[in-house]
Amino acid sequence: MTDVNTFSHPILITGGAGFLGSHMVALCLEKRIDLVVVDNLSNSDLSNLQTLEKHFNVTIPFFNIDIRDQDKLKDFFNEHRFSAVIHFAGLKSVAESVANPDLYHDNNVVGSQNVIDCIKAQGIKNLIFSSSATVYGDPQYLPIDEDHPVQPYNPYGETKAQVEELFIQDEYFKTASVKLLRYFNPVGSYKCIIGEKPNGMPNNLMPYILGVARGEYDFLNIYGDDYETDDGTGVRDYIHVTDLMEAHWSALMDDVIGCEIYNVGCGKGFSVKEMVKAFEEVNQVKIPYQIQPRRDGDIATCYAAVDKIKNHLNWSAKLNLESMCRDAWSVNS
Ligand code: NAD
Ligand code: UD1
Repeated sequence: MTDVNTFSHPILITGGAGFLGSHMVALCLEKRIDLVVVDNLSNSDLSNLQTLEKHFNVTIPFFNIDIRDQDKLKDFFNEHRFSAVIHFAGLKSVAESVANPDLYHDNNVVGSQNVIDCIKAQGIKNLIFSSSATVYGDPQYLPIDEDHPVQPYNPYGETKAQVEELFIQDEYFKTASVKLLRYFNPVGSYKCIIGEKPNGMPNNLMPYILGVARGEYDFLNIYGDDYETDDGTGVRDYIHVTDLMEAHWSALMDDVIGCEIYNVGCGKGFSVKEMVKAFEEVNQVKIPYQIQPRRDGDIATCYAAVDKIKNHLNWSAKLNLESMCRDAWSVNS
């Protein structure tokens, strides 16, 4: 078990201005851990970090660096030392990745290789990478455990699988503590002060529900009600972002050497209609919806086996669907 007092240098949080990265910043500030954020603001702005600065009465060291810019990244690592790196920076839209796979390869794979090169040059040994359940593709069995075949069906998922391999294949990381975390569907907000603020129209379910609740969209499009699920709509494993960050904390504190893959989910599936109903009941807001054809590339059902992370890292999700819906809305209403 790592002792936080052994962190003689800050933690680097790449993509720290984004939805999940800024939640990690919040957790580190709460635990009084020094951190530094790198982000190019391609899918975020500084508002979450500014809110956290006010809330915690601190200045968050922020560097506007594109991880594809090898020279700038090297200079940055030459000027700063880090005890650990949590690598969130990346593009995450499946549709955009289909339209522009080269951009996704360059941004997510080449960018991550640059981060990895700098990590190795500095000799950093405590690392977390944001992977995704999307690497599993269409599930062959449920719940999906970490041994399930990796068979991504879109370029975004391929970039996540490729970056995992960059860590797994590299001899250096056999001497480091590396956690490859495959997130399922994160939603919610940190203590209701910061939340998800994607640039442009949201692709994902919860940010779209929030847009309908705010009156920005007239109704939610439900993509398909003819799946083989109880009510015909898609089933996913939603996880509260506070729980997800606690999983990162457990990963950071675990000093077992080697590269380990962990699912991070609740281990339970909820359908789109169940999400809508829970959101309406908890927040007393009506979410009108219309059934549309299935969305390209969507699967019927996806939820995680979560025994490995519970057994190895002693982490399991605590917050339920009601908390996710309430907290997501409280910061976005
Ligand atoms: P996000 O878009 O809110 O945050 C990602 C951040 O990375 C953004 O602030 C963006 O500006 C930054 N970034 C992107 N490319 C960059 C580059 N080249 N250089 C520097 N910064 C760059 O997304 P998020 O939801 O916070 O996701 C964080 C990570 O988790 C991503 O890698 C994503 O693929 C992964 N992930 C997210 C989910 C999810 O549902 N949110 C699920 C599985 C995995
Ligand atoms: C999507 C990505 C996945 C990525 C994850 C997090 C696709 C095919 N998959 O997962 O690779 O890791 O986001 O970024 O894009 N839904 C609606 N209406 C909407 C939005 C979604 O009905 O407006 C439904 C979907 O059909 C699905 C469920 O809600 O059944 C969840 O969708 P979403 O939030 O986009 O997540 P995933 O599809 O699981």
